Amino acid sequence: MVTPNTIRQTRIGALATYVPPKTLDNHQLSQMVDTSDEWILQRTGIKTRHIVEPGVAASDLGKEAALKTLAQAGLTPDDIDVIVVGTTTPDMFFPNTASLIQTKIGATKCWGFDVAAACSGFTYSVGIASDLVAAGRCNRALVVGTDVMSSITDYTDRTTCVLFGDGAGAVIVEPAVEEGLGIIGCEYENDGTLWPALQMPGGGSLHPASHETVDKKMHFMKQDGQTVFKFAVRKTEEITRKVLEKHGYTPDDVSLFVSHQANRRIITSAGERLGLPESKVMMNIQDYGNTTAATIPLALDDAIRQGRLKKGDLVVLVSVGAGFTVGSVLLRWAF
Ligand code: UT7
Repeated sequence: MVTPNTIRQTRIGALATYVPPKTLDNHQLSQMVDTSDEWILQRTGIKTRHIVEPGVAASDLGKEAALKTLAQAGLTPDDIDVIVVGTTTPDMFFPNTASLIQTKIGATKCWGFDVAAACSGFTYSVGIASDLVAAGRCNRALVVGTDVMSSITDYTDRTTCVLFGDGAGAVIVEPAVEEGLGIIGCEYENDGTLWPALQMPGGGSLHPASHETVDKKMHFMKQDGQTVFKFAVRKTEEITRKVLEKHGYTPDDVSLFVSHQANRRIITSAGERLGLPESKVMMNIQDYGNTTAATIPLALDDAIRQGRLKKGDLVVLVSVGAGFTVGSVLLRWAF
């Protein structure tokens, strides 16, 4: 019998992803801006990315991932108690994307909300959902990371447009079924001092949308790439060590290191600092680019498909994003 404030172990019980069919590869981008396949591949590791057709929004990608996840888990939409959505590109300011996904999948018995943590949207959302389930507040959470980064990308700015793609991933967070298999712990940090290095300045309450904000392209993301890069390498290592140490593990114990996929060089450097062999460092940025809240579920999905992630494996999920937000989830893979 679960009563409010019962603390119980939780797990990720199912996972699925969705990317829109249309792709935009480096050769196509080199026809649009002054760049090359060689530069993009060397500096970022990205070869191609998926991009939505006009009119397709974050809730549409999230819906597809959510329905696939429910089917995989053998659940119906009414089995979900709460929907937690990590997104930086909600369909609209309001209603929240969770409400839109709720109605699109036909889940009638749940509540839900969005989490604004940029590239840490997935790690933050999993942790929040896990705490709700652990406390007995909810029995089953649908966690969705979904982003349509193409909607806030300036395709005349070569310094950002080569980096991002669109996609979604969804997991079920529920009580653990087998002892020891599930979420072990989560660690989070914010550092607001560096916020100017990655932002979308226009359209919010500071600079409400106007002809001027549009003329100045303030509705597109702006980035100081090198500041983000250095912070990401340092914090990816630090938060990984922090979550491992807190629970009595070392990097040597990790079976698979699944970092947010923003740049191949960030992931490789962090992996090297942690002393991890390449075989334990998940990399699939080449196929999707940076899909913000969707990178980690997309990486987990590919790891399963490639036979690199099995039941019982010790996995660490790590992200660094605008804010800056820093997140990590340590778990024993449960299926
Ligand atoms: O999820 C969190 C979000 N973002 C990130 O994690 C991104 C972190 N940062 C990065 O990934 C890298 O800083 C970038 C990939 C964005 C840039 O790589 P970089 O090695 O830091 O390059 P840079 O900004 O120092 O630019 C080097 C040169 C510059 O030319 P000059 O000034 O040396 O003549 C840029 O103008 O490369 C130029 N450049 C390009 N050239 C061809 C910048 N973008 C491009 C491009 N194609 N797309």
